[in-house]
Amino acid sequence: MKKNIAIILILFILTPSYAAKTAANYKKIKGRIEFPEPKRTAGQTDVLQLKCAPIDTVRVAIIGIGMRGIGAVTRYCQLEGVKIKALCDLKQANVDKGQLTIQKYKKKDADLYTGSEDWKKICERPDIDLIYVCTNWQLHTPIAIYAMTHGKHVAIEVPGAITIKECWQLVDTSEKTRKHCMMLENCNYDSFELATLNMAQQGVFGDLMYAEGAYNHDLRKMTFNEKTYQDMWRLKYNAEHTGNPYPTHGLGPIAHALSIHRGDKLDYLVSMSTDQKGMTVYAEEKFGKNSDYAKQKYSLGDMNTTIIRTSKGKTIMLQHDVTSPRPYSRLHLLSGTKGFAQKYPTPGIAIEPDAHQFINKSKLDSLLTVYKHPFWKETGEKASIVGGHGGMDFIMDYRLIYCLRNGLPLDMDVYDAAEWSSIVELSETSVLNGSMPVKVPDFTRGSWKKLDKLTYAK
Ligand SMILES: NC(=O)c1ccc[n+]([C@@H]2O[C@H](COP(=O)([O-])OP(=O)(O)OC[C@H]3O[C@@H](n4cnc5c(N)ncnc54)[C@H](O)[C@@H]3O)[C@@H](O)[C@H]2O)c1
Repeated sequence: MKKNIAIILILFILTPSYAAKTAANYKKIKGRIEFPEPKRTAGQTDVLQLKCAPIDTVRVAIIGIGMRGIGAVTRYCQLEGVKIKALCDLKQANVDKGQLTIQKYKKKDADLYTGSEDWKKICERPDIDLIYVCTNWQLHTPIAIYAMTHGKHVAIEVPGAITIKECWQLVDTSEKTRKHCMMLENCNYDSFELATLNMAQQGVFGDLMYAEGAYNHDLRKMTFNEKTYQDMWRLKYNAEHTGNPYPTHGLGPIAHALSIHRGDKLDYLVSMSTDQKGMTVYAEEKFGKNSDYAKQKYSLGDMNTTIIRTSKGKTIMLQHDVTSPRPYSRLHLLSGTKGFAQKYPTPGIAIEPDAHQFINKSKLDSLLTVYKHPFWKETGEKASIVGGHGGMDFIMDYRLIYCLRNGLPLDMDVYDAAEWSSIVELSETSVLNGSMPVKVPDFTRGSWKKLDKLTYAK
């Protein structure tokens, strides 16, 4: 017994903490943490505004048919110009459910795969154009890289990557293969987010100086449920990591409103987390104080707050809280020299010369109608019927397929995927180093100055 305890103690002392393990990834330079920025290889150039050969009918394979993946199957059955060629999941029941959905829409059966590495076989097939990845976070980048190196475009769920190394891998592989790599940030297509983007681009808010975004979503019931996230991958991640592991829903729409890497760039951040209490309290109440879930150590703080400064002197505040009992919020707040918009807790807009109060409901409705984004004018009706977070998921898929079919640059490129996902490791690094400032790598390697604004291709 004593021997066992001694072995455990020795192992505990010898096993480096996550902070110690990752410290080799970056350097501390003049009070700031910097991750290395690898150089391009000879001949490698940026993929800003990347155009690829048009694809008449986009042949899609969907990997990961869990809660999110089945929604994608349903939406793709209702999109024009696509064929679902293959479905892949570890569970036979999940691919069968996907096939039933395909049959319900009277489409041709897909080939079904259930092996844990079958996504490789799918990427190797010559008759597929787009690999659409809805697995747990750890597999997004490995599948994306394999897909692009096998000549496929790839769309990956959020976050696209969970380490800075993976962010660079996405960028380098897209640049080398000249294949699209889009992160499926659906919140960029929400009708309010797009209407306020439209307003921002038309100067309604003046110069945007500050923005807020968040993912505040009480996921405790789902996270502690063995039947939801496959193999409880989200809870396991929460046990091992702190910082903001899910930054892209909040950051994506405001990064586009601020034209990040289209004339400005994320420069550095500081991040701070509360202690963890929410998961332990929940586990104690639900499973008992002596349960394994209650005794487990969770690294993720209840609330993480990250502040990012851009090179042009704007700031962004991001929040992440998935373990407190509180109403859902992505904040989505834009503040400029002439006006202000927020989506949560209730949508509101305030504009000069009367910006000390929100405009009234009828003025808000008419403003949102006037500035309704072209995507919503074009396909909002169908999106609302097909659904998926109120239709934004359908608009995202519709735009991806439209751009691929017309050989146009995608709305969101690999640099968006890398920048927004990089917050995962950068925020964690800042938290683990007493909220020290951390430089955001320039994933465009200087090319952010080439473009002066965000444009969505037509
Ligand atoms: N954009 C959004 O609004 C949104 C919403 C929910 C989830 N997500 C993202 O979608 C992804 C999936 O989340 P989820 O809630 O569906 O989780 P989930 O656990 O329900 O689904 C993941 C699926 O991937 C499958 N899988 C795991 N390893 C695999 C492998 N080797 N090969 C094939 N399939 C494999 C699992 O069997 C599971 O069915 C996550 O990245 C999550 O962040 C995005």
